[in-house]
Amino acid sequence: MKDGFSSKVGYVLAAAGAAVGLGNIWRFPYLAAKHGGGIFLVTYLILVLTFGYALLIAENGIGRITGCGPIGSFRYFCKDRTGFMKSVRWGGWINALVPLIIVPYYCVIGGWVTKYVVALAANPIGKFASKSACDAYFGNFISSTWEPIAFFLLFMVILVIVVAFGVQKGVERFNKILMPLLFLMIVGICIYCLFLPNAKEGFVYYFKPDFSKFSYMTVVAAMGQLFFSLSIAMGITITYGSYMCKADDLVSNVNQVEFFDTAVAFLAGMMIIPAVVAFGGKAAAEAAGPGLVFVTMPQVFANFAGGRIAGVFFFILVLLAAATSAISLLETNVQTVCQELHVSRPRAIAICVLEIIAIGVITVLGYSVFKNFHPLAFIDKYKNMDILDTLDFVSNNVMMPVAAIFTTILVVSVIGLEKFSREVRQDKKWYREYLFQLCMSVVVIPCLLVVLLQATGLLQ
Ligand code: ALA
Repeated sequence: MKDGFSSKVGYVLAAAGAAVGLGNIWRFPYLAAKHGGGIFLVTYLILVLTFGYALLIAENGIGRITGCGPIGSFRYFCKDRTGFMKSVRWGGWINALVPLIIVPYYCVIGGWVTKYVVALAANPIGKFASKSACDAYFGNFISSTWEPIAFFLLFMVILVIVVAFGVQKGVERFNKILMPLLFLMIVGICIYCLFLPNAKEGFVYYFKPDFSKFSYMTVVAAMGQLFFSLSIAMGITITYGSYMCKADDLVSNVNQVEFFDTAVAFLAGMMIIPAVVAFGGKAAAEAAGPGLVFVTMPQVFANFAGGRIAGVFFFILVLLAAATSAISLLETNVQTVCQELHVSRPRAIAICVLEIIAIGVITVLGYSVFKNFHPLAFIDKYKNMDILDTLDFVSNNVMMPVAAIFTTILVVSVIGLEKFSREVRQDKKWYREYLFQLCMSVVVIPCLLVVLLQATGLLQ
């Protein structure tokens, strides 16, 4: 019998676990801080409720109708078509390739997070009190050779054990326990951060939209973030849709996942931005960038009362979020390998592990042995990009918009919007059906083209 989620709660918590990850806790706060705080938050929320919602419904629907992962799903709908409509099936491969690229570098960052749990628990917090100390600690760690490999492998082994137990006994059970815990922890750390001295200024920065900070880059950044955070265009949502019980209400499931993911991103911003502003002012928040979690947050914790405990809990929280998402990425790859190579699940897991180790080790060494290797050196704009950033850039900014364009064409032109909507709604009332159709037919593709053109440098 095909393994799948046992219940609605199982699906919602596993899909929320897939969505809630480094994207919410590591990426969202630094992007929000960089792009004007409140105005980014408003832009992001509007996009989630329209563009993001439409793609979430589309991918879940595709998976549920076919019962297959991305490649099988696209093939199913395109098989009797000719010409251009037949060629849309290649979109399935692009959707399936994205998680194969993401999992290895996600495990590398997961390894960094694991290291920070240990580091904050084992060292006096005063060690992280200054920016130079935090920069040096992080720099020395990632540029060493064996330690980041060891933590990367440790993180990967956790994922493999969970996925080896299967969808219900592994993925679903793990998320059922950890997602409520994660939610409680984030609320707890938010309360700690909100009571820090001077947190009010950061709170206002995060909540009050400053329209003078709005530019088209706010929209582009929010859109890129939305893909990563909602797990769109990375095969996961099609795969999880294929595990959904046929009798489940797809629309209500998607509403809950959308709510959960956005709530966690929102809370993560509320936990991090006021803390960073309280510590270093708005300028520190705006300038922090991707180092926010690994360089700025330890400094913040080192400078406030109770910081050591709060810091350890914070990194455990990031670790749980990273693990639940990485599990869904790995599960997607395992399903693709099982279905496409017709191998057993244990063999598919072994193949995926070899792939993660090969690309992951090269990525880790990108900060030491291969530090002078820049894969996109032939493009002036990206000539200094390291291996990890290149994998992130190629998967997120280039392949994901392309994958989502194919998904939109599949739903609108190959399946047909009316027919697809009927399958999604079944006999139930669907309040946002018109919004879904409007977004799929006129909003999604132009927005995706803007993201793609901006990433490739054709739009400045
Ligand atoms: N959606 C996952 C994240 O946010 C991949 O990290």
